[in-house]
Amino acid sequence: MTKQSRCTLVVWLVAAVVVEISASALLSAMAPAAGDDPKWKVTRPDSDQQPDEADNSFCLVCHINLEEEELVDIHRPHGVGCELCHGLSDAHSADEDNLTPPEIMWTKQRINPRCMTCHLRDELLASDGGGEDHKEVLARWADEDKSDDGERYCTDCHGEHRIANRTRIWDKETGKLLKQTGGPKMDRQK
Ligand code: HEC
Ligand code: HEC
Ligand code: HEC
Ligand code: HEC
Repeated sequence: MTKQSRCTLVVWLVAAVVVEISASALLSAMAPAAGDDPKWKVTRPDSDQQPDEADNSFCLVCHINLEEEELVDIHRPHGVGCELCHGLSDAHSADEDNLTPPEIMWTKQRINPRCMTCHLRDELLASDGGGEDHKEVLARWADEDKSDDGERYCTDCHGEHRIANRTRIWDKETGKLLKQTGGPKMDRQK
């Protein structure tokens, strides 16, 4: 083992422990934030400023199946694009073998808190269309024994934000590559 790879291993081990601790803290408290690492943060844009439409073209070169997807579509005019939700991810985009993960991935546990950094709880509960739904969702989500297995996460109802056939699976917390099946085969249907 080279000095460098040993060093990398140590970094991974430390990262794994940190993630383990923050994950269990998250589960017990059902609290949104894990530490102050900016990696986890999705920032709410300044609502006083009229944002430019988000430019997603860089990512859509490969992720063409998400071009007209609902979650992408509703956010684009408001300046919320791939980058705001997944990070700049230059290294991911430039990796021809596609072994490098994007910067921000979303575990199920992170979906609601992150969506709710921009869509505040009170606004969700007060919304005309989704108010009742949101009340039930937030109650279910807070229910730790998970006896009610109805919709629990925002993306259960909002969007079709998926890749049907995965060829790369990363650990969404650490970015570690867990599975690789052949070359990348992205969905081409819209
Ligand atoms: C970085 C901030 C940000 C994040 C994160 C974010 N949104 Fe949004 N979202 C907005 C903005 C800004 C709008 C447009 C203004 C508005 O309706 O609040 C919007 C609009 C929406 C709308 C349409 C609202 C309407 O009026 O029809 C839905 C639905 C929505 N978001 C769901 C989600 C879900 C689900 C997530 C998590 C996967 C999410 N958003 C994450 C900022 C964000
Ligand atoms: C059980 C399904 C369901 C789940 C889960 C759900 N929503 Fe909704 N949501 C709705 C419905 C239905 C509407 C009203 C129709 C529409 O705008 O799509 C709505 C509307 C919205 C709107 C627009 C509100 C407005 O004032 O017009 C936003 C923003 C939103 N949802 C965000 C979220 C976020 C964030 C989550 C996760 C915390 C979430 N939703 C989870 C069903 C759901
Ligand atoms: C409003 C925030 C938001 C925006 C904007 C957004 N994403 Fe996502 N993305 C998410 C969330 C949340 C998930 C996890 C969805 C889930 O597990 O239900 C996700 C998951 C994904 C996945 C993994 C899907 C799978 O099958 O596991 C890909 C690929 C992806 N996003 C690419 C993109 C690209 C490319 C763009 C821009 C065209 C984009 N995203 C824009 C929030 C966003
Ligand atoms: C050169 C092609 C390419 C470009 C450009 C690209 N991606 Fe990807 N991306 C991939 C491949 C391949 C996968 C793995 C798909 C699979 O499982 O088959 C992936 C997976 C993802 C995932 C899923 C991560 C998860 O949760 O498992 C996200 C999120 C993502 N990309 C975001 C982005 C964003 C944001 C951009 C633009 C900044 C981008 N990608 C640009 C090829 C690309």
